[in-house]
Amino acid sequence: MNNRIRKAVIPVAGLGTRFLPATKAIPKEMLTIVDRPVVQHVVDEARAAGIEHFVFITGRNKGVIEDHFDSAFELEATLERRGKVKELEALRADLPLAGATSFTRQQGPLGLGHAVWCARDIIGDDEPFALLLPDMLHHSHGKGCLADMIDAFKKHGGNHIAVAPVPEDQTHQYGIVGVEDVKAKVSKITKMVEKPAKGTAPSNLHITGRYILQPTIFNLLANQEAGAGGEIQLTDSMIALSRLEPFYACRFDGDIYDTGSKIGFLLANIAYGLSRSDLEPELRREIERLLES
Ligand code: UTP
Repeated sequence: MNNRIRKAVIPVAGLGTRFLPATKAIPKEMLTIVDRPVVQHVVDEARAAGIEHFVFITGRNKGVIEDHFDSAFELEATLERRGKVKELEALRADLPLAGATSFTRQQGPLGLGHAVWCARDIIGDDEPFALLLPDMLHHSHGKGCLADMIDAFKKHGGNHIAVAPVPEDQTHQYGIVGVEDVKAKVSKITKMVEKPAKGTAPSNLHITGRYILQPTIFNLLANQEAGAGGEIQLTDSMIALSRLEPFYACRFDGDIYDTGSKIGFLLANIAYGLSRSDLEPELRREIERLLES
């Protein structure tokens, strides 16, 4: 078994029904947070953690994501001719190495578990991999969520899930884990439950959308029956996997934005804008003016 996390799976085949009509013709992963598409922010996080290969699970109407991660010949030639060196360098710095991306189609939005299963041949059966849900932006004030998880993985092995606290009265809306030590940065998971009934959650730590999984998950997903919402649920297969292998919760201390929801998207734009030194002074002034008016 190869124990280096080299590959990341990024599922982008969902329909984005919470964000209509914006997502009718534009994939929600291509909506921008400041001047970068949501999915680019997630690739940035994965690259910073040392990921070398990106496996995108796509679907119909998502072709523009593939174009985004390719070079744009006419654009680059024009920038070069016009001497726009800074813009050109920025574009090239974002470009993944040739051969470092794979795109495979899910063929139908059958659920996150099914989307992950579609990566089985590209990941193979002898290396653990990262999984990042692109609509969940993890705004870190440190190394990055996935980078922290890979550090924890190097120490403990097994499977890892990023978690963060939510208010007790909201646990029924999330995947929740129970852990040995609620306060620890990394702690063994003792229970996993998808959307627990009110008052039954084992803790207030919710699954935030970053995972390191062993390839054993693929066999479990292959036999996984449809669960909540008639979809093949990743959590159901992770629960089965947790009977065979250890799972650890890795607490994320930064801010998380669900950009698949309208409020999360708006907040992410404000927060990421305020953290940019070229935009912060004017943006802050304008927000204050709006709030006063
Ligand atoms: P979501 O449930 O947030 O995405 O899935 P969605 O289905 O697009 O959103 P709504 O609820 O209809 O607005 C989390 C991630 O998993 C991907 C989505 O693209 C998203 O990035 N996903 C989900 C798939 O790739 N395939 C699926 O069948 C479901």
